[in-house]
Amino acid sequence: MKQTGKQKKFLAGALLTLLLLVGCGSAANDSAAQKKTDVTQETTAQETAAQETATGQTAAQQTEQETSAPEAAQTEEEDLTAGLSLKELFAQHGMKVGTCLSTYEINRNSINQVIQEQFNSVTMGNDMKPDYILDQKESQKQGQLVVNFNQDAMMMLYWAKQNHFSLRGHTLVWYSQTPEWLFHEGFDEKNGYVGREELLARMESMIRQVFEKLEEMGYLDLFYAYDVVNEAWMEDGTMRQNHWSEIIGEDYLWYAFYYADQYAPETIDLYYNDYNEQFKAQTISDFVRTLVDEDGRSLIDGIGLQAHLYTSDDLETYFEAVETLGKTGLKLQVTELDVCLGQYQMPGAPTDENLRKQGLFYYDLIRGLLERVDAGVIKMDALTFWGLSDAQSWRREYSPMLFDFAMKPKYAYFGAAQNMEKAGFAR
Ligand code: GLA
Repeated sequence: MKQTGKQKKFLAGALLTLLLLVGCGSAANDSAAQKKTDVTQETTAQETAAQETATGQTAAQQTEQETSAPEAAQTEEEDLTAGLSLKELFAQHGMKVGTCLSTYEINRNSINQVIQEQFNSVTMGNDMKPDYILDQKESQKQGQLVVNFNQDAMMMLYWAKQNHFSLRGHTLVWYSQTPEWLFHEGFDEKNGYVGREELLARMESMIRQVFEKLEEMGYLDLFYAYDVVNEAWMEDGTMRQNHWSEIIGEDYLWYAFYYADQYAPETIDLYYNDYNEQFKAQTISDFVRTLVDEDGRSLIDGIGLQAHLYTSDDLETYFEAVETLGKTGLKLQVTELDVCLGQYQMPGAPTDENLRKQGLFYYDLIRGLLERVDAGVIKMDALTFWGLSDAQSWRREYSPMLFDFAMKPKYAYFGAAQNMEKAGFAR
């Protein structure tokens, strides 16, 4: 049957939606997807779902609009080999550079090739989160918590090893993307909650099994950093309330690092990772100083700056926060960088002017970080982008990434690569 233009568009939209569902930054895969960036007021996933329903649009319809929206003119020159690749650039400053990964990217030759040319580190976007590694059926059967890596994780581990990539582990103890049953008697949410001792035992078991299984499978030495705790603090300086803190108490954070320090090899740096870091720098600095063992030895090696930013953000404020965090003496890593056009809840259109602005933002941000690394102001050994193309980004309506929907490099790419002439602006 012949399809009308509208039908074709709709099918293309539906197909793209399907593909997006498997992408590493997929909002649909990701209950954390909408929680970022508002300093004073967090939008919960439920609120977001409600807002989406209120617009009366299905995901496919939204995607259809996104795909049919014309991308603004990009750089005339699209040759990625024109300057230094990202990994050559960062290597000059003693740093690794990474992207988040799902099997979607490694199964597509053109994307796979860009990853190999530009990056030397990867972080699984979803597949090492508690939701993905904890096996409810086996836990119930064996009467104890069981960690099992899924097929996608196995494929990515194999790929990383074959292609000589380093890995950031993400993430162990988190309030989100963690199964509810983990906190209940008999690993069944129909039962009541477990008590403090049992939850601590489960936390220890999860952390131990992750490192043991990676070692048994021969992948442990690929990892150079691991996010032990993700997003535990609020912008007002209070601890985020969640099942971990409610059942164990506020020292759940200390125990998470205590166990990770016990089971991870010395070669893996242990990280606390958070977003809105520019508004939480003092809180995070105070917190990490408490993470010492009985002999005063630090249990943590680094602080992860998620860096989910906007082109409207003030870079001076950001660098001040980076320097405050650097004063802890710990290593720093940028762990999930993306720079949205516009501001929170107000996406900027991907016009040529806005895309040039984004190129400049990426240029200035990365320049400022590299300068501080070179001057010894901060110890930053890696920077990871949260995806490659706008099509795969969890914030795709803000066009935040280095590559456009067709995987063409944007001004943003050239800005990040410190290729000033091609980054869309002149000084
Ligand atoms: C947070 C998490 C990431 C990811 C993003 C959204 O930043 O740390 O794992 O879920 O949200 O894609």
